[in-house]
Amino acid sequence: MDVACGTGSHAMILKNNFKVTGVDINENILEIARRKVPEADFIKGNMKKLELKSKFDVVICIFSVIHYNQITTNLKIF
Ligand SMILES: C[S@@+](CC[C@H](N)C(=O)[O-])C[C@H]1O[C@@H](n2cnc3c(N)ncnc32)[C@H](O)[C@@H]1O
Repeated sequence: MDVACGTGSHAMILKNNFKVTGVDINENILEIARRKVPEADFIKGNMKKLELKSKFDVVICIFSVIHYNQITTNLKIF
């Protein structure tokens, strides 16, 4: 799972070896990701309220994403 996946640049690489689900808050960004990486699943969601209904072997949240959480209580340990 790629949290705050943006336009799917990491999914594009990861899909070669993993089944990837990306989540992002911005539907317009997700549309780009879906076009770029049709092999991955992309869903709209807020990382501050994310309730995962599936299990994932790895969850990443990378490249200038954590600072979108402006207060530490927004940070949730999965
Ligand atoms: C700097 S981009 C990084 C995108 C991606 N991780 C990458 O490395 O290419 C930050 C992304 O975080 C998303 N984002 C910001 N706040 C978010 C939130 N609360 N929940 C989910 N995504 C969020 C934005 O829509 C944007 O796509």
